[in-house]
Amino acid sequence: MEEKVKLLETEALKELVKIEDLKTLADFKVKYIGKQGQFTALLRGMKEIPAEDRPKFGAIINSVRERLENIIEETEEKLNLKELERKLTEEKIDITEPAKNTERGQIHPLNKVMNKLMEACVEMGFTVVDGPEIETDYYNFEALNIPKDHPARDMQDSFYITQNLIMRSQTSAMQIRAMEAMKPPIKIVSPGRTYRADSDATHSPVFHQLEGLVVDENISMIDLKALLTKLLKMLFGENTQIRFRPSFFPFTEPSVEVDATCPMCGGKGCPRCKGSGFMELLGAGMVNPKVLENCGIDSKKYSGLAFGFGVDRFAITEYKVPSIRMMFENDIKFLSQIK
Ligand code: DAH
Repeated sequence: MEEKVKLLETEALKELVKIEDLKTLADFKVKYIGKQGQFTALLRGMKEIPAEDRPKFGAIINSVRERLENIIEETEEKLNLKELERKLTEEKIDITEPAKNTERGQIHPLNKVMNKLMEACVEMGFTVVDGPEIETDYYNFEALNIPKDHPARDMQDSFYITQNLIMRSQTSAMQIRAMEAMKPPIKIVSPGRTYRADSDATHSPVFHQLEGLVVDENISMIDLKALLTKLLKMLFGENTQIRFRPSFFPFTEPSVEVDATCPMCGGKGCPRCKGSGFMELLGAGMVNPKVLENCGIDSKKYSGLAFGFGVDRFAITEYKVPSIRMMFENDIKFLSQIK
């Protein structure tokens, strides 16, 4: 038996030194130490030898097998290295060959508009903060002074997940989160997706807003007007006319809506601006003292201004796109036309 093992070892080693490629090495492994291999067969054959001799033979076979495995491993490493060297010398890249034409992606028009808005805000000293798209009733409505019977709370208008959880219907929810997390002075903008059960050429169930909030001592309506006028002129040019109209939002008092010269017709009047020459861009106002108090901010010492920018409406006008839905269908043929 011992002799048989030695013989097999010599035979295997002789074969092994001649191996020059990985495929032959793999075959060699199968032949000797694989499941059906010759050494494995020897181990299986042990049942024929007397029980007292088995441990001795077992040890011999295993040590030979181990030796063989080590040599196989070394050979494998050597052959791998050889193969790599061969590839490196043979497979040279021809850098003179003309490049293949590939399609280049680009930033989505909505993100372009959003980035432009945020850049203008950052230039004016705002910090950008991010918030959740699934909100609680408290942040989306309650803390913003939106009463229980307000139409926005209706199932027809907002997407409810549970009675208490909704897809946020406005980024204004982030005003509350910011005021809870920071102490005045606060100067933040918060961009993101918002959701409402609404769908036509200028409304999509998912849309984008950019919320702004400034809280400090002595903030007044003058700051609000100056800030938004500057921001809109940065975006649309110095000659843009800006119009503030009285409005109502439960979380601001007083409230305004802000329009700028329609970029589609330059103020002459067109179907997009319904002949008015203006495009509605923002809701804004002075933060309702009740809202400040809801967040633990002393409304006698501090006041605030807030604004909410409708990004999609601005984007479809900027790029002269007839329907808001085209912004979300992700048709590459359409998107690649927008530069
Ligand atoms: N959240 C309002 C909307 O979705 C927009 C808005 C109005 C935001 C007034 C504000 C604000 O921050 O002060 O229609």
